Amino acid sequence: MSTVSLDLLSIQGEAAFDIKPNVDAARREGLDVIDLSIGDVQYPLVHNIQDIICEAGQKSLRYGNPLGEPEVREVISHYLSQRAHGLDIDPQKVFVSIGAKGALTSVLRCSIQPGNGDEIICFQPFFPSYLGVIQLLGAQAVIVPLNSTHSYQLDYRELERSITSKTKAIIVNSPHNPTGSLLTPEDYRIISQLVANTSIMIVFDEVYHTLTYNGANPSALSLLPDLYEEGQITVIDSLSKSHALPGLRLGFGVTNSEYIHQIHKIQTHFFSCPPQPTQAAAKLILDNEQTYRSRREKMKQEFTFRRDLLVKGINEIDNFHCSTPEGAIYVYPTLDNIDSVIFRKSLLELTGVACLDNSGFGDPQSALRLAFSTESPTRLTVALERIQRIANYVKHSQHSKN
Ligand SMILES: Cc1ncc(COP(=O)(O)O)c(C=O)c1O
Repeated sequence: MSTVSLDLLSIQGEAAFDIKPNVDAARREGLDVIDLSIGDVQYPLVHNIQDIICEAGQKSLRYGNPLGEPEVREVISHYLSQRAHGLDIDPQKVFVSIGAKGALTSVLRCSIQPGNGDEIICFQPFFPSYLGVIQLLGAQAVIVPLNSTHSYQLDYRELERSITSKTKAIIVNSPHNPTGSLLTPEDYRIISQLVANTSIMIVFDEVYHTLTYNGANPSALSLLPDLYEEGQITVIDSLSKSHALPGLRLGFGVTNSEYIHQIHKIQTHFFSCPPQPTQAAAKLILDNEQTYRSRREKMKQEFTFRRDLLVKGINEIDNFHCSTPEGAIYVYPTLDNIDSVIFRKSLLELTGVACLDNSGFGDPQSALRLAFSTESPTRLTVALERIQRIANYVKHSQHSKN
């Protein structure tokens, strides 16, 4: 008889990490896989990373502070203050964690009383770990669809209807994974009005904050300074996307003092302290943020080129429709009369192009997510030819059935 807790059987993994071992195994066997599945940023942004890691590794291998080392929290508070436009972020309200996912888990655990029927709102399509973490923490996810006919904008009425006396937190992600849409300043204003006079925490996931392509990159810290002062917002982020270092697992958040007190306890029990070499590396990196900012501009030019290449190529394929994402690192085409799950599997098995389909993002609409941060323009062009080939194949087989 199994000793595994029954609730775990209904919790899904994250498709990108389910596919990754197969992609890695196929590559080890010498197969040429074009991998557009995982949201990895493969770009030499931090050129001397080996030296930084070696220097950091020598600094400290002792236990540390469960909230992160004071000098690391300090440097993160400067980094966050830059996006807060004039608001000074208090280092005492900053905590370090293991990736943005670790920060999300710690902060949601502060809001949730497991088994109490607590509700956490997230928007659909959603980053798969939102659902996973909410379920693992013993709460109910309340899913609010974004308006897919209007560039995945927020539907205020739907959001308002979804807020109940059991709502403990709302997770907001802008720039958005998987659609690349951005919230507008008006969205921030309306969300803040909807939670006024409640004790609902709004968790803003800003892991793609530095990756916007049209100039605008709004942050909750600059648009909702009052809610920051009142302690009703948490912002989480990491160096995974902004500094192209997902394997460093350096995540962080800024929240209120009460939550910080609890996060000290939560992280003590979960993992004692964030890894010390990772934090030392983060300090060296964030101390030189000015350098990385200018290199990031070059990276964004390159990503803009790749994004436009994919959007144009995808829109030339019959039954594929794709808008131009304003942020993040994905294009998210919808597919008319094509089963995206079968399409994705055929694409991988027959042509070696890996991507994700809508199912992991909780989206009922047939769609694919293609990351443009992992492969060169030449390989993206090859991927487009292969997508076109499978689309032709599907079209002909549908014709011959009819
Ligand atoms: C929206 C969003 N939030 C959080 C994460 C997790 O980031 P990290 O690697 O820092 O845990 C990701 C990773 O893809 C993401 O897309």
